[in-house]
Amino acid sequence: RPIHILGVPLDLGASRRGVDMGPSALRVAGLEARLEALGHQVTDAGDVHVPIAETRHLGETNARYLAEITETCTSLAAMVERALEDGATPLVLGGDHSVAAGTVAGVSAFYRRRQQKIGLIWIDAHSDINTPATSPSGNVHGMPVAALLGLGPDALANIANFSPKIDPENTVLVGVRDIDQTEKENIRRAGISEVYTMRDIDERGMRAVMEEALRAAGRGTAGYHVSLDMDWVDPEDAPGVGTPVRGGATYREAHLAMEILADHGRLLSFELVEVNPVLDERNRTADLAVELISSAFGKKIL
Ligand code: ARG
Ligand code: MN
Ligand code: MN
Ligand code: MN
Repeated sequence: RPIHILGVPLDLGASRRGVDMGPSALRVAGLEARLEALGHQVTDAGDVHVPIAETRHLGETNARYLAEITETCTSLAAMVERALEDGATPLVLGGDHSVAAGTVAGVSAFYRRRQQKIGLIWIDAHSDINTPATSPSGNVHGMPVAALLGLGPDALANIANFSPKIDPENTVLVGVRDIDQTEKENIRRAGISEVYTMRDIDERGMRAVMEEALRAAGRGTAGYHVSLDMDWVDPEDAPGVGTPVRGGATYREAHLAMEILADHGRLLSFELVEVNPVLDERNRTADLAVELISSAFGKKIL
């Protein structure tokens, strides 16, 4: 299947600026050429239009720029759906993690028209399941999982006019290690049971965790969307992110997870978010991100 790249230069959902340059950093790191070297047919469809922060007002302080983010995610959802209609695998480049509310809306809408469900594999240091009522920061990038499961914010949850986008039993969190007290309650309320923390990865190993995660996301679904937040990787290897948390996946664990994903062959769409070139060192976080995407799309050592 061909791959369609879509950039989303959005930083309105985060408080550290600069993550809007993520798509450019990933392109500069050679994304398209490296995927084509694997034998894929790749088309870069360019960037989704995103309003510039300085031209807008903050809006509600418990969900800053929610209107602008919803507008961006709504256009993104339509573009993702179109890529799938063209028979391609969407590859979305963030931008902050609020873009996932749009990507997953598009994938879910496409399969819904065909009476199928999709799974969601959320690979992140964070659970991103706050709502405007529970968020300690008011940053919408901490809310997309809540939106996709129908907890809110309503504007994001209702993109494409249906909600929830994913069933809780097909939602899997992998590698979490920084969950707000309020989010623990939201995880319970949403009914997500598949939560694999860094402790699970340490105790059971990446392979066992990924196999179980893929099985849960794939049960009764057409396949799954993978949303990879670069802050999942340890900050030693991925310093260019806005909300780093120590104790993350190592370089090798991260590659292994992507290789296992590729082996299973049920990936419907992929998204890589939170690369912030302003905070990076000579683009190394974007370079690693491109390597991980290559592994997810079938790069093998031999
Ligand atoms: N839980 C924190 C919040 O709600 C941090 C979220 C970080 N999210 C991310 N996509 N990096 O603000
Ligand atoms: Mn090309
Ligand atoms: Mn995230
Ligand atoms: Mn994160």
